[in-house]
Amino acid sequence: MAKKLFIQTYGCQMNVYDSARMADVLTPLGYAACDTPSAADMVILNTCHIREKAAEKVYSELGRLRLLKDGRREAGDDMVIAVAGCVAQAEGAEIMRRAPYVDIVFGPQSYHRLPEMVARATRASASSKRGVLDTDFPVESKFDHLPDDSAARGPSAFLTVQEGCDKFCTFCVVPYTRGAEFSRPVADIEAEARRLVEGGAREITLLGQNVNAYHGPDEAGDTTSLAALLRRLARVDGLERLRYTTSHPLEMQDDLIDVHGSEDKVMPYLHLPVQSGSDRILEAMNRRHRASDYLAIIEKLRRARPDIALSGDFIVGFPGETDADFNDTLSLVRAVNYTQAYSFKYSARPGTPAAELADTVPGDVKADRLAALQTVLDGQQQAFNRACTGRDMPVLLDRAGRRPGQLVGRSPYMQAVFVEAPESRLGTVASVRIVDGHANSLAGVLDTAAAA
Ligand code: 5AD
Ligand code: SF4
Repeated sequence: MAKKLFIQTYGCQMNVYDSARMADVLTPLGYAACDTPSAADMVILNTCHIREKAAEKVYSELGRLRLLKDGRREAGDDMVIAVAGCVAQAEGAEIMRRAPYVDIVFGPQSYHRLPEMVARATRASASSKRGVLDTDFPVESKFDHLPDDSAARGPSAFLTVQEGCDKFCTFCVVPYTRGAEFSRPVADIEAEARRLVEGGAREITLLGQNVNAYHGPDEAGDTTSLAALLRRLARVDGLERLRYTTSHPLEMQDDLIDVHGSEDKVMPYLHLPVQSGSDRILEAMNRRHRASDYLAIIEKLRRARPDIALSGDFIVGFPGETDADFNDTLSLVRAVNYTQAYSFKYSARPGTPAAELADTVPGDVKADRLAALQTVLDGQQQAFNRACTGRDMPVLLDRAGRRPGQLVGRSPYMQAVFVEAPESRLGTVASVRIVDGHANSLAGVLDTAAAA
């Protein structure tokens, strides 16, 4: 009988990609996905360590899983509990200590070894009790050891091209949990892209913690930029849309900016985190650019692609941030005019340089600044969405809506678009007339319906 697998994914799109690959690795062992942890023979929590809140969720979820596991054991059965991802990488031994009922703890670089870990864990739990901990950064790449059945990831698929980060922003755990920068070879990426398209993908989002630092080798061994990689993938027949995330301003070279103007398949949308608009804080964050450098990049992007939609990440309340610094952030936001953005209160992460600084901004000030920033950002997003009313847009319909007869898709600018459409249109790019713009989404009608 098939064994049931439940994977709970936290955090970024890299984790979403990794979770899908973990499921691929476990398929040959007879594991098939199920919808709830209570039905599962194995539960994997694929975790995020980026902010304190994200990491805390793991321990509370583990508490709930423990009860399920105890129930199973009383019934003479068992459940394998595994913790994966960045909390596992950063706090592996601590998890084993605080939650000894966890069977397997493994980091983001070793999930190709899952079959072996599962075998060891089930042997261990049958005898007495010893969990399996694997948080190595192995010399072999997991990408060379994943099964080939990477197709059928849906009309809009993720493809990891780069991992890790050497930027060492002073607040960030990623360089420690994901390790040094690594770029996959061009040929491997192109082969995976072709398989995805054969499996029905129309859009591919290239993923990397620092995706625009991509510098993988081509067939001749020459270093290839993200711009050159995008140009190559744009030649893949049947692939209609390309995106990439997440980028660092320092790596936003002119050839990459040009691609936004010259390749129609590269969508007019860019997530380019800036974190702060204050030069003083940018320096303390080790971002290695000034606010004016960021604004100059935005200007070049808009020259290359006037309709480009911009998104960003912001941190408020970094140690030492004054009202004046925060006002610089608001000014930058007003100058850029984002169509969507993510903003966070600073949280000190153990092991990062900023965690050594006194957390000077009181909690209520952080909360006030976050609310003020989000009011401006939400206003910009709403204004953009409203201004889309009456426009015709190509929308990739990539999933069923909550209501029967409804499909949901993405506009070129990454907005979610709700449309009444037959299921047969799922997985296609449809021409849609936008009839309403809401805070977080658009409502549209198929252009054929609009004409009728
Ligand atoms: N505190 C708050 N936000 C953080 N981020 C990363 N580290 C921290 C931290 N210690 C945010 C940044 C980053 C996004 C993924 O998470 O804005 O771009
Ligand atoms: Fe973290 Fe900075 Fe690297 Fe982004 S660029 S992953 S914020 S260290």
